[in-house]
Amino acid sequence: MTDARRVRPRRLRATPALRRLTAETRLDAAQLVLPVFVKEGLTEPREISSMPGVLQHTRDSLRKAVAEAAAAGLGGVMLFAIPTVRDAVGSQATDPDGILNVAIADTVAEVGDALVVQADLCLDEFTDHGHCGVLTPGGAVDNDATLVRYAEMALAQAAAGAHVVGLSGMMDGQVGYVRDALDAAGRDDVAVLAYAAKYASAFYGPFRDAVESQLEGDRRTYQMDPANRREAVREVAIDLAEGADIVMVKPALAYLDILSDVAGMSTVPVAAYQVSGEYAMIEAAAARGWIERRRAILESVLSIRRAGADHVLTYSATELAGWLAEEIR
Ligand code: PBG
Repeated sequence: MTDARRVRPRRLRATPALRRLTAETRLDAAQLVLPVFVKEGLTEPREISSMPGVLQHTRDSLRKAVAEAAAAGLGGVMLFAIPTVRDAVGSQATDPDGILNVAIADTVAEVGDALVVQADLCLDEFTDHGHCGVLTPGGAVDNDATLVRYAEMALAQAAAGAHVVGLSGMMDGQVGYVRDALDAAGRDDVAVLAYAAKYASAFYGPFRDAVESQLEGDRRTYQMDPANRREAVREVAIDLAEGADIVMVKPALAYLDILSDVAGMSTVPVAAYQVSGEYAMIEAAAARGWIERRRAILESVLSIRRAGADHVLTYSATELAGWLAEEIR
């Protein structure tokens, strides 16, 4: 029998150099994606009250933010936009002059290929009822009619220069439908990121402020039930079969088991989204001095990577990349 004291895991924790050498998981700026919000007609950037430090951008301040993201070595950005006019079908989402499409073009003009330019492909920011799809006369979200709008939206985003379209609406068949539409238009170069396992989560609360959501009720008829684990594997398998290039789990921190399962079965890169409510919780507790902000942000993103995410969408991306650069120096 081994003397228990002969086996000493603490030996490898003794110095920063030993800990650095033996760390199983590392963070790299290239694996971080910054979500950004741009609002049509805004003249000054505006802080989102439930997301301290996160702004609704003007077109100009968006260009600065993405340039900073590129300078920080981030992997990409995910664009969201708030239009002035909303209607039942989300017309602004497919208008080439609609704010999201304009923001894509602005971003590509600013950073070119230095960042992977991704856009949220969902109707909720553009509909007056706030749902992710179009509605039946009875008020239900109409899956197949929504797919037609998603395909039109994908073509508009591709035309604006998006490298990746981020399908976040959780309609059945959305990946295959949009893939086919892009291919038929000769845009087989545009990649599809599938929000494959997206849960109906309370942690999206601050995001609804960020995009001034007009939703009444919830999204439980299309987003997943937080009670379900096996179903995430099913959703990912479906999206892989339909041609998803990247699959995502969302939210992240309360869903690390899901992330671990998905990382174990996915044949494509796995993304995770540290969502608005996760960000807000850390900021709120840190503002009260209850947790150390920098350590909490680093630890949470590291945990998401450790659970299996290849890359992480986080509102802290640019700042975090700065800290990583400091550590290297
Ligand atoms: C849908 C979308 C949402 C988020 C990303 N894409 C909102 C929702 O599904 O209700 C939430 C992101 C976050 O909370 O940070 N367009």
